[in-house]
This record gives sequence, structure tokens and C-alpha cells, in this order.
Amino acid sequence: MDKFVIHGGHRLLGEIEVSGAKNAAVALIPAVLLCDEPCILENVPNISDVTISLRILYEMGAQVEYLNKTTVRINATGLQNYCVPYESARKMRASYYFLGALLGRYGKARVSMPGGCPLGDRPIDQHLKAFSALDAKCSIEHGMVDLVADQLTGSQIYLDVVSVGATMNAMLAAVRATGLTVIENAAKEPHIVDLANFLNSMGADIMGAGTDVIKIRGVSHLHGAVYSVIPDQIEAGTFMIAAAATGGDVLVKNIIPKHLEPISSKMRKIGVNIEEFDDSIRIWVDGPLVRTNVKTMPHPGFPTDMQPQITTLLTLAEGTSIITEGVWEQRFCYVDELRRMGADISVDGKVAVVEGVGRLTGAPVKACDLRAGAALIIAGLAARGITEIEDIYHIERGYSNLDAKLREVGADIEKVSDPVAKVEMKEAM
Ligand code: UD1
Repeated sequence: MDKFVIHGGHRLLGEIEVSGAKNAAVALIPAVLLCDEPCILENVPNISDVTISLRILYEMGAQVEYLNKTTVRINATGLQNYCVPYESARKMRASYYFLGALLGRYGKARVSMPGGCPLGDRPIDQHLKAFSALDAKCSIEHGMVDLVADQLTGSQIYLDVVSVGATMNAMLAAVRATGLTVIENAAKEPHIVDLANFLNSMGADIMGAGTDVIKIRGVSHLHGAVYSVIPDQIEAGTFMIAAAATGGDVLVKNIIPKHLEPISSKMRKIGVNIEEFDDSIRIWVDGPLVRTNVKTMPHPGFPTDMQPQITTLLTLAEGTSIITEGVWEQRFCYVDELRRMGADISVDGKVAVVEGVGRLTGAPVKACDLRAGAALIIAGLAARGITEIEDIYHIERGYSNLDAKLREVGADIEKVSDPVAKVEMKEAM
């Protein structure tokens, strides 16, 4: 019902602050289950995926208390409920982390098959392979994944595909297993390192996170911890591209420059100026944007979650760019919407060919998933005229106070509720 209305064409100028990382927070929150004492998480982003994760914990019997806007205290000791029902799990992909965390702590878990963005086939076979290797019995019936283990035992786990979710779930399940677990062909994303650091701060023994071999020596007890979630690499990259697309000059703050290297190096190729500082990065444009090719890959490759945003930037560049999606089967749902704004993009399977058009024009569009929505925001900010973006609940899953943050750097963006839709809803109820 809510939509973003953007009057485009304003250069973004000034400073913008990045929140905690969605993909780290949604794993760290279930990880608290593994601990025998309360934990405090700081730099928690204000996004709906976090709200859902916290609600799941609360509904299981945990105490959840916000100490300030971004700090939450969770006491998940002594739960009696090991089930995440369909209503909660269907709303976000990351509900699958409750599988690993509940199994790791209680030796049992019952979680509905997860939902999330429609990016094509999203199996969880590698997660189940990891749980089985640790001696858990896994079954899927009536849409629920059931896991049970008398005693989890450390093991060698080779992942057939590089999977962020399966790597994190294997870590969650193995951290209190007996003996040594070795995860090979592990994913290397910054949020994997963050989860390892959080678990280690509770007393776990995890080595190698950030490389493709992670070693976990099981421990019998984890103590409470105070831990700050890493900054969101994808939110930062989205702001960087928004700055470039509007010909702006923006300092993106509260970031880790190393995490942004795959994004910064591509943007430099496109002709964007970038200067890195200790925990901030400046982006400005003083010349034409030029074509480049992009292929998305697991970290440290170019992140798939930045593919829609960089494609949008390349519609504004000179020449023909080729975008190859190397992670997901279907990640070009936003292209039709960009075409409505004047983009010239053709898609064949996992490859998009972008003919730079130099400028876009505002139009009514719909977000089909989270990062597609981010791409439409960037397009709307850069376009001449008014863009209205519907289905923004996708965007709010992963961006904290996005409209307010963008207004601070000069964007003309408002979130409006559609009163007609509200009346229709009321009448239907
Ligand atoms: C996570 C991110 C998502 C990002 C993706 C890739 C979260 C909550 N979401 O998703 O934003 O786009 O990483 O960086 O962190 N696969 C299998 N079997 C499995 C698991 C995955 O075949 O059991 C395949 C998938 O279909 C996909 C590839 O592996 O083609 C990568 O998926 P994965 O890294 O697992 O993505 P998610 O963890 O779901």
C-alpha cells in the first residue's frame, strides 16, 4: 500500500550513514540461541527482516528488549519451543538460520521451509547435507523441515556449491558439537566472518572464516557477549551508486572499505571517483560514465546483491555493457520496470545487455524484490520527473530508514500511504 514518490534529478550531496548489515544481523540473532546467557547486539539495523527474526525469538519464549534504537538485549536461555511456523518463516529467507541454531543448542529443530526474494530455484540441500554430516536426521514433511540429533558430532563437510546460508548454518550447528568440524568450499562473505567473530566472542573456537576452509572445534558452553554488527556492505554500495547516478558528491560513513572493494573497483572503471578513508568512502563524479562488463560471483567477486543497482548505473553510461548473473537463476525482474523509465536493456537467461541511454525519465514502477527495489530508487533519483515505486515492503526488508537518509543528502523522496487502498482493505475485512 505504501509507495515511494521521488522527484528525480537532484544531485546527492553531503554525508550519509550506513546501518548494520542485514545479512549478518539475521544470522547473529538466531545465533543467540546457542548461548547460555543473555547477549547484547549493537548496530542492529531497523529493517523488517530483523523485526521478524526478533519476533520469532520472542514467540519461542525469549526476552527481547531494545536498549536504544540500534541495541537489543536478548535472553534466549531455557526455551521450550523449537518450532518456527510457516507464518513467520515464509516472510524471509534467513529464517533457515533457526535450523542450525536450534539444532546446535537443543539437538532438534522444526522450521517451515523459508520464503524470501524470488530469485529462482533456492534449494537448501547443502544445509541439510551439512546437518546430516554432523549426525542429524533430516526430513521435510508438510512444508516443515525437521531435524533431530541425539549427539551432534564434528565432521568433514564439503559444500558442493559455495553457499552463504549453508556455510553459516553448518557453523551454527557445529559450534557445540563434539570434536572437530571442517567446512570445505565455504563461502567467504563478510557476514560469515562476522558470525564467526560473534560466536568466538561467546567462547566458540572457530578458525578460518573468510577463507574457503573453516575449522570449528566444538565447545560445551557459550557465555553471553556484547557484540556490534558489521556495517552493511550492500547498503553502502547502494548509496555509492545512488551518488554516482545523480552526479553527486557523497561521503558514505560507518563502512569497512575492504568490504566494498569489489564494488569500488567496478565503479572506478565506470569513471566514478572514489576516495577511501578509515571508516568512510567519498564518491563523486566529474566526467562521463563509461561502459563496463560485470559478472556477479561469491565474495570476493562482485556481489549479486549489487547487480540491479550497477545495471541501473550502466544505463546512464556511454556504450554497451554486459551483465552476467553468476549466482541466481532469475535476477532481472526489475528490467521491465527500468524499460518503463527509458532504459535499453535486453535479457537472455542470465545475461543482460545494457545500451547506455544517458538519461532516464520518471514513471510508475513496482519493486519485485529487495535489491530490484533499490535499483528503482536509484533510477528514480537520477531520472527527470516523478517516479512512484510500489511494493516497497520488499525494500523495507533490507534498508533502514532509507527515505529519511536519502533526504539528508538532498533527495526529494517521500513515503506515502495509498488512502484508496486502505479504504478498500477496510471494506474487504
Ligand atoms: C545469501 C544472501 C543473499 C545473497 C546470497 C548470495 C542472506 C540472508 N541472503 O542468500 O542476499 O544474494 O547469499 O550472496 O544472507 N544453493 C544450492 N543449495 C543450497 C544453498 C544454495 O544449490 O543448499 C545455491 C543457490 O541456489 C544459489 C547459490 O547456491 O544459486 C548461492 O546461494 P546462497 O549463497 O546459499 O544464498 P543465500 O544464503 O540463500
